[in-house]
Amino acid sequence: MITVNAPAKINLFLDILGKIEGGYHSLFMVMQSIGLSDEITVDKSEEKGIFLTCSDKRLPEDKSNIAYKAAEAFCSYINAEPRVIINIDKKIPFAAGLAGGSADAAAVIVALNELYGVNLTKDELCEIGLKVGSDVPFCIKGGTCLSQNRGEILSKLKPLKDCFIVLAKPERGVSTAAAYAAADNSYIYHPDCIAMLDACSKGNFEDICKNAGNVFEQVIEVPERIEIKNIMRKHGASLCQMSGSGPTVFGLFDSESDAIKCAESIKSICPDVFITKPVSHGAKII
Ligand code: C5P
Repeated sequence: MITVNAPAKINLFLDILGKIEGGYHSLFMVMQSIGLSDEITVDKSEEKGIFLTCSDKRLPEDKSNIAYKAAEAFCSYINAEPRVIINIDKKIPFAAGLAGGSADAAAVIVALNELYGVNLTKDELCEIGLKVGSDVPFCIKGGTCLSQNRGEILSKLKPLKDCFIVLAKPERGVSTAAAYAAADNSYIYHPDCIAMLDACSKGNFEDICKNAGNVFEQVIEVPERIEIKNIMRKHGASLCQMSGSGPTVFGLFDSESDAIKCAESIKSICPDVFITKPVSHGAKII
C-alpha cells in the first residue's frame, strides 16, 4: 500500500491571455503548493476495477471523481488492466480554487507509478495528469512554479519566503468552467506578468506582493471577499487575494500570532478558515 501526501495550491498570480483549442484558455500563473493537504492511500486489488472511497461523502466515489479518472488514465497509458483501491482522506475544501481534486489525481498517478513499478519520468506523469485536469501537472511537480498555456508548461521559480498563510473559504462553490465563461464575457484589466515574473525570479517578496493579481476577482462575485480582505489587511497581511477561480481568499503573514488573530476574527463571517505554510513539493509518497 502506498500513502501519498497531496498538497493544495494557491495562485500568487493568475492572468488569462486568450483562448486556445479545446475550449481552454492560455494562462500565466504563479502557483504555490501549501501545507493544507489530502492523504491518499492506493493499493492493488485482487478484483479487476477501480474501487474508490472518500472520507467526505459529499464527493462522488464513482468514475466522476477526478482521482478515479487519473487511475484510468494511468492504467491506459501503461496498458494495464486497472486493479486499484483508492482511499481519499479529504482535508482540502472542494470547489474552492485550491486544486483539491487535481491534488488527489496527482497523488493517484504518483502512487500508481510506484505500485506498478514502471518508473515513468515526472514529465510522463505530468502528461498523464494533463489528460484529467489542467492543474494536475503542477500538483505533481509542486513547490513554486510559473505555469503557462493550459497549465502544462511549468518552470520552477525560487521558493516563496517562509510565511504563514490564512485561507478563508466562503460558502459559495464556484464552477471553474463558469468562471472562464464569465471572463470571456467581460473586459478585463490585465496585471503586469513581466513585473511579477521579475519579482519571482529575484525572490523579492515585497515586489511579489505588489505585483500579485488574479483576474478572476474581476468576474467572480464573492459576497464576503471585501470584508475578509479588510480583516486580513487590518491584521497585517502582506498580500490578500482570491485563489484560482475562487472563492477562497488567502492572506500572507510574517507573524504567526497575527495569522492566528486574523483567522479568529474571520471565523465570525466565514467559519471555514485554515492556517498553513508554503511547501516545496507536490504529491509526495510518505
Ligand atoms: O482542465 P480542468 O478540468 O481543470 O478545467 C476545467 C474547466 O476550466 C475547463 O473545462 C475549461 O472550461 C476551463 N479551463 C480553461 N483553460 C484552462 C484551464 C481550465 O478554459 N487553461
